[in-house]
Amino acid sequence: MKILVTGGAGYIGSHVVLELLAQGHEVIIIDNFSNSSEIALKHIEKLSEKSINYIYGDYGDENLLSNIFNCNKIDAVMHFAGFKSVSESQTKVLNYYLNNVASTLTLLHKMKLHNVRRFIFSSSATVYGIPKRVPISETAEVGGTTNPYGTSKYIIEQILNDLGQANDFDIVILRYFNPVGAHPSGLIGESPKGAPNNLVPYLLDVAAGIRDQLYIYGNDYPTRDGTGVRDFIHIMDLAAGHVRSLDFLQTNTGVHCFNLGTGKGYSVLELITTFEKLTNIKIAHSYTERRPGDIAECWADPTNANRLLKWTAEKTLQDMLNDAWRWKNNFPNGYF
Ligand code: WQD
Repeated sequence: MKILVTGGAGYIGSHVVLELLAQGHEVIIIDNFSNSSEIALKHIEKLSEKSINYIYGDYGDENLLSNIFNCNKIDAVMHFAGFKSVSESQTKVLNYYLNNVASTLTLLHKMKLHNVRRFIFSSSATVYGIPKRVPISETAEVGGTTNPYGTSKYIIEQILNDLGQANDFDIVILRYFNPVGAHPSGLIGESPKGAPNNLVPYLLDVAAGIRDQLYIYGNDYPTRDGTGVRDFIHIMDLAAGHVRSLDFLQTNTGVHCFNLGTGKGYSVLELITTFEKLTNIKIAHSYTERRPGDIAECWADPTNANRLLKWTAEKTLQDMLNDAWRWKNNFPNGYF
């Protein structure tokens, strides 16, 4: 199939593109490199031994989208492009709603005009807000989001549900838990611009001597060691879940939502000690206040994806951290 991938040069998009190519799909990428790099595409070409068809630009650009859909018979769209920083979204509210929500509406409208029905959306466990219970299933309450980034994901999910009811699209919504790690080649990985917001890229900066210590946001949570608990999932498992979703849409219509997580939770401290044991590198850390908007614990009930997508996360926390460290050693400053 020919797949249009928005944000295909980004962390998650690039790993999914590699898997799509490996499965024999044709890919067209649109990316404005606002939080990614063209170098990632060069590395994908090296790994896949295929040339990448990509368009530099904004996925919300109507003329650009018209050209793409007029010149290509697109079988499905995988939508990764969007701003993704919880903290940044609280100061750049309009940017987040324009770029994440309004541009997605433009993309969906173009798809409808060109009779492209299959849509796979990069959503997030953040739509669950503060979960009433864990593990979290897809039927858990959503919408109690605590920041514009999470709310933008929630709003788009609502739009997709309505579109599915109108029988205009066949959609898979994927709610990611905490994607970490890198392709085992060490040639593509997570490469945040500026100071990392997320735990693993920040920890890797400390391990590489780029930052002096890791600040743990709170150790007074009602968890086994007081630090936050998350469902860390290997980016390669996450990528496999997208390929399975594409297969699923070959024989299923309507709107479907799946958690992509391992179903296991690890605490911040457990992740740190796992990394230290694996690499024999001490991670200097200290405790600070809780981060606004953070929740105590969050891990997935992935049984729907296991059953209906025939997908299960297979990689361990050790695999995630080993692969992440290999990427960091190869490219200490990522693509920048
Ligand atoms: C994990 C744990 C922090 C950094 C967010 C979004 C989610 C997705 C992933 C985009 C928490 C603690 C972190 C640090 C720390 N985003 N932490 N020191 O917040 O679970 O999820 O990022 O795709 O949608 O909600 O991920 O890695 O930021 O935090 O102590 O320097 O690590 O408090 O307990 P989070 P995270």
